[in-house]
Amino acid sequence: MCGIVGYIGKEQAASILLDGLSKLEYRGYDSAGMAVYNGEDIEVVKSKGRLKVLSELTHDGATMPGTLGIGHTRWATHGEPSDVNAHPHCNKDESIVVVHNGIIENYLKLKRKLEDKGYKFLSDTDTEVIAHLLDYYYTGNPLQAVTKVMHRMEGSYALGIIFKDHPDELYAVRKDSPLIVGHTKSGSIIASDVPAVLKYTRDVFFIENEEIVRMTDQTMEFFTVDEEPLEKKSTRIEWDVNAAEKGGYEHFMLKEMYEQPKAITDTFSPRIKEGKIVIDELNMSDEEIKAIKKIMIVACGSAYHTGVTSKYILEGLARIPVEVDLASEFRYRDPLLEEGTLVIIVSQSGETADSLAALREAKARGAKVLGIVNVVGSSIAREADNVMYTWAGPEIAVATTKAYTAQLIAEYLLAMKFAYVRGKLNDAELAALIDDMRKLPAQVEMLLNNKQKIQKFANRYLAAKDIFFIGRGIDYAISLEGSLKLKEISYIHSEAYAAGELKHGTISLIEEGTLVAAVLTQEELYKKMISNMVEVKTRGAFVLAVTNTENTEVEKAADYVIYIPKTNKYFTNSLAIIPLQLFGYYVSIGRGCDVDKPRNLAKSVTVE
Ligand code: F6R
Repeated sequence: MCGIVGYIGKEQAASILLDGLSKLEYRGYDSAGMAVYNGEDIEVVKSKGRLKVLSELTHDGATMPGTLGIGHTRWATHGEPSDVNAHPHCNKDESIVVVHNGIIENYLKLKRKLEDKGYKFLSDTDTEVIAHLLDYYYTGNPLQAVTKVMHRMEGSYALGIIFKDHPDELYAVRKDSPLIVGHTKSGSIIASDVPAVLKYTRDVFFIENEEIVRMTDQTMEFFTVDEEPLEKKSTRIEWDVNAAEKGGYEHFMLKEMYEQPKAITDTFSPRIKEGKIVIDELNMSDEEIKAIKKIMIVACGSAYHTGVTSKYILEGLARIPVEVDLASEFRYRDPLLEEGTLVIIVSQSGETADSLAALREAKARGAKVLGIVNVVGSSIAREADNVMYTWAGPEIAVATTKAYTAQLIAEYLLAMKFAYVRGKLNDAELAALIDDMRKLPAQVEMLLNNKQKIQKFANRYLAAKDIFFIGRGIDYAISLEGSLKLKEISYIHSEAYAAGELKHGTISLIEEGTLVAAVLTQEELYKKMISNMVEVKTRGAFVLAVTNTENTEVEKAADYVIYIPKTNKYFTNSLAIIPLQLFGYYVSIGRGCDVDKPRNLAKSVTVE
């Protein structure tokens, strides 16, 4: 939700800001803006619409000379997307300028107080309060004003701030919204996320909650909210710079789908040693693993869907009871975390506000928390007791593909490890699962290479009104993700149903020609699924089946069949999801949608 950047140094700021924002646009794209100090004043240019509008307005930054600046790409929370609500926001004489990612929860109260003191507000945003509050406290010492404002604000924020009468300094602070800073060859840079700075530096400082940074072109000082100096260590980022570029693909989503074989390999290969699953990051002894009484998997969106899959696998393989919860529900439902409960928070970004809050809630209740996270150094990675990284690399497309796939692999590994340690898997069974896991990358690649067939099929459904996905067991979890992939990027209404539930209501929506995608990868459920397919077919549905190669029986009940290669019953999600991702992608392209940046969405949801 919203991306911020800032630069101070020897180069022209605007082009660096625009470049950084282009890497953060996935965080929000309702509007964009920049502020650059031009030697006399701070000039602000901002506009509703995509970043390209801002680039055009400023001739790619050329009309905004200066070596100190901040920039913003917005996902609207308070105040509709408009020019006036776009960031940066300023105090009345435009001498203090702010960009903000997060939500100031007490902004209405602060706004009223400031209005009583004569401050006039131009926008409907919560952010404008920060600019006026800084103005109110500013008496010539920026650090002091910043800390005073921090004491007054409730909510989440990552801020970039410039003060006109301190043109050699750039300030940044954070609380509960991500922020990184780094030295470049020519100066200092701040950003919401690593891809924005990778071109300029690989050594970054992760700013912790309530920390402040004061930067010049040469120096970087860190302070607590009480203005006490802090020592911080930088972290080396090993991501490939090109990983955050499209690399010849038409869209990030397609590129990231093609990166799935590598994401799978990179996630499992360091954790399989001499035929055993070794997850050092777990920091759990065999005794502790044996003592687990319950696992709670908590996440949002697609990450939640991996949890739904893993419930079947952890329960099936390791025989540990598993609850799966949406993070936004978990945190408010007074969860029961008895002794022996392991809470697993799954998150690509590591910054999802609800997942982070759930993590804190679980820790406050004494549970041990394991994070399964993609972004190194993100808030969830840092706050979890232990973190198991998914090595998918930077994911830019809003709709997740490779991070989802890598999350599944991490969860399979956990299930295999727990099952083995608890004596539910013997050496031969473990070896067979490892063997199947090693085959997954090539199998995924083979399915991806079948994309033309899916594209042809997708083109028949560009005008569909509703599409349903059905499955049982793990196939229900796959259906949830297949349905989300389709609807979030194509804007076609879609629902996933546990196939047996269909006749308890939803079947009344099936009309002549309605597409029903049936997923059947669980052999023991083939017959039941085929009955459900026949039920919808006799009511006029066109049935697409995604199933295992040997299940040719299905052709009697399906109008169109996509076969996936053979794997064991636990890993089928990793294969069956590929044609469904491709289907969503091609329907979206065929309908002319912006596949990488679907409307109303943002990549990391850092607000509740
Ligand atoms: C859907 C999608 C979202 C995310 C969800 C959680 O394609 O990407 O549903 O899965 O917002 O995000 P993370 O994993 O960053 O916590």
